Amino acid sequence: MTSSTTPKTHRPEGPKHVAIIMDGNGRWAQARGRPRLYGHHAGGKRVREIVEACPDLGVKYLTVFAFSTENWKRTQAEVSGLMKMFRRYITRESQNLIDNGICVRFIGDRMRLDETLVRLMDELELVTAHNDTVHLTIALNYGGRDEVARATKRLAREVAAGRLDPETVDAETLARYLDTYVLPDPDLVIRTSGEARISNFLLWQSAYSEYEFIDTLWPDFSRDEFARVVGSFSKRERRFGAVRG
Ligand code: IPE
Ligand code: IPE
Ligand code: MG
Repeated sequence: MTSSTTPKTHRPEGPKHVAIIMDGNGRWAQARGRPRLYGHHAGGKRVREIVEACPDLGVKYLTVFAFSTENWKRTQAEVSGLMKMFRRYITRESQNLIDNGICVRFIGDRMRLDETLVRLMDELELVTAHNDTVHLTIALNYGGRDEVARATKRLAREVAAGRLDPETVDAETLARYLDTYVLPDPDLVIRTSGEARISNFLLWQSAYSEYEFIDTLWPDFSRDEFARVVGSFSKRERRFGAVRG
């Protein structure tokens, strides 16, 4: 009986994991005749509002792109301003994150980040590790290609040490070596600021994600707009390579 067979496609309730490319801070500042860092500060403030909107929207996992492996190409002033902002963000927001039951994780390569920042990141992960209301992942010095390369290096070491049989390696094996090994794949990836590209974000994990490219610049992205975008996700039909069931 066809009615009892498992449908090959489904309309989901809502996205469990939303990932956001927070873009447009520089243009937002430029439009106001202010320095780029002014836009980054305005953008930083938006994160709290979006994180706090997640429980009501049924979003259990939120991943945000804060700094890419390519963002080092910016001026020294912008890069050091951003690093200072990340240190301040962690210091200022940690109590609020704890109070709201947010579990924070960082993905990306920590090797190139300064010691103080890495210590703050480690501490925030530790003090929020038992929280479960929302899982916030912050991508900092993150690049999808860099992540796959680092994962491959670790996997190759296991093979070289005789602890892993190369014949057993499949996509699931590699995924276990990625920074995101504890996270489900994102259901929905949102990019603000009108650019329709991935810019090296979650390349592997977003293989079957739905994408929403919206024109709003990140510092103007509100809770209401977030709710609207999340709401529109449930109208989409995801197929995962199958035909309509
Ligand atoms: C995104 O905003 C934040 C970071 C990349 C750190 P941008 O700084 O890229 O802003 P635009 O794209 O120049 O407007
Ligand atoms: C992607 O934005 C990185 C972050 C939002 C942190 P970029 O502004 O760096 O990306 P491109 O340069 O437009 O591709
Ligand atoms: Mg940009």
